Amino acid sequence: MFDRDPEGTMSDFPYADRFPVHRTLPEQGRPREDLLAELTAMAAEEDAVWESGKISGTMYCGDHEHYAYLTEAFAKFAHVNALQRDMCPSQTKFEGEIIAMVLDLMHAEAVTGTRPGGLVTSGGTGSILHAILAYREYAAATRGISAAAGRLPNLVKPETAHPAFDKACHLFGIENRTVPVDPATTLVDPAVVAAAIDDNTIAIVGSAGNYPYGTIDPIAELGRIALDRGAGLHVDGCLGGFILPFGEELGYPVPAFDFRVPGVTSISADTHKYGYAFKGSSVVVFSDKAIRNAQYFHQVGWSGGKYMSPGMDGSRSGGLLAATWASMVHLGRDGYRAYARDIFATAEAMMATVRSHPELRIMGAPTFCFSFTSDAFDIYHVADFMKPRGWRFNGQQYPNAIHLAVTRPQTKACVLEAFSADLAEAVAYAREQQAAGRLAHSGAIYGGVIGGLTSEVEAVMTMIMDGMLDTQQSLPPARA
Ligand SMILES: Cc1ncc(COP(=O)(O)O)c(C=O)c1O
Repeated sequence: MFDRDPEGTMSDFPYADRFPVHRTLPEQGRPREDLLAELTAMAAEEDAVWESGKISGTMYCGDHEHYAYLTEAFAKFAHVNALQRDMCPSQTKFEGEIIAMVLDLMHAEAVTGTRPGGLVTSGGTGSILHAILAYREYAAATRGISAAAGRLPNLVKPETAHPAFDKACHLFGIENRTVPVDPATTLVDPAVVAAAIDDNTIAIVGSAGNYPYGTIDPIAELGRIALDRGAGLHVDGCLGGFILPFGEELGYPVPAFDFRVPGVTSISADTHKYGYAFKGSSVVVFSDKAIRNAQYFHQVGWSGGKYMSPGMDGSRSGGLLAATWASMVHLGRDGYRAYARDIFATAEAMMATVRSHPELRIMGAPTFCFSFTSDAFDIYHVADFMKPRGWRFNGQQYPNAIHLAVTRPQTKACVLEAFSADLAEAVAYAREQQAAGRLAHSGAIYGGVIGGLTSEVEAVMTMIMDGMLDTQQSLPPARA
């Protein structure tokens, strides 16, 4: 993911040694077959990385037949703009049915007195941003909470809730009230949340499960608080929304986190994670569509005509809606349950392996996605040892921990065997390194394990982001 890798394992100029680099639009277009050959070579190499089954999260389905089927569905509507419904009634069917299916999965039948509704967005962050914008607009309209009225809206979120909530506060002018979690359970304490709420709190947040530890916040207690204080409660089910319901059906200890819980007013669930659809899709559902509708946008006085959009995007891909719908309807409850059965069983087995080492400690009580740390040594020594063996864990901090969101590529028996063998050696290595007083190289960065980023964060961030976006523009002409 990061071009500027302190360990030098990633290239600044990927593929420049093998394929032409384009820094200007070619005067003569290149033949399709040449370009498809290049794309095929890059995709095959990159697929081989996750096909090993040693990558946390990221590739949720990992089944090329499923991807080929989704590609077919996508291709039929890839050129379609889902904004223009007069031309494509299919999109009304796809989007409406995706929303209905997610509402059903989240037990919207339990909602009384209001009409539930949803939105299809571009990903987990998109769903969270839309939800928080909706709460801001709804609170302004119904409770008079707005900066203009001298009442700065605020959001109360556990420290473990995804940074997309911080991003929402940053973008939408909302005060971010982040509260700590219990270090032993990794869960937010409802009393701490209650204490942070005031008259300007538009919503509170709980995760099912959270990204760092995969644990589920006490949604029922948060729901009671939300109802009592008149605030919304967003449950972030981006990660868990499409797998926890099936874990519950399979008998795993999954507490209710959906609309069966009084006080829950919105839930995000990512179709592009355990929904096994293509990247670029997620769903956010609301117990009351009046909240969703508060963020609808119109500009009816524009010279280009009367403009309206249901969310922050303008044009949207008809292909993604078709592929998302195709994934859900093809797999059905039975398919999702079968995948969940394998994933939960693999995660249980991996956690048993971790627990077999007295120096390692699982954080909280997770199910399909877990983190572990060590009180005996710096856990990043374990990451250092596992990395050259192909393992790609996510590094965490406060305390240092490594995280594994178990997905289908890990459900092969050989992956579990490799995990057991490599972890045993990694623990021995970590003990030695610690005893010798050596520092670990790995560090904590979202989406990977990488060193550095402890100080001068703005400068380091700019270097990393520029590395992703700009490097190819500065490629020396001789290599172009
Ligand atoms: C719990 C949770 N919420 C939100 C997100 C953000 O999702 P996305 O990366 O699709 O924007 C993630 C991503 O992993 C997540 O795990």
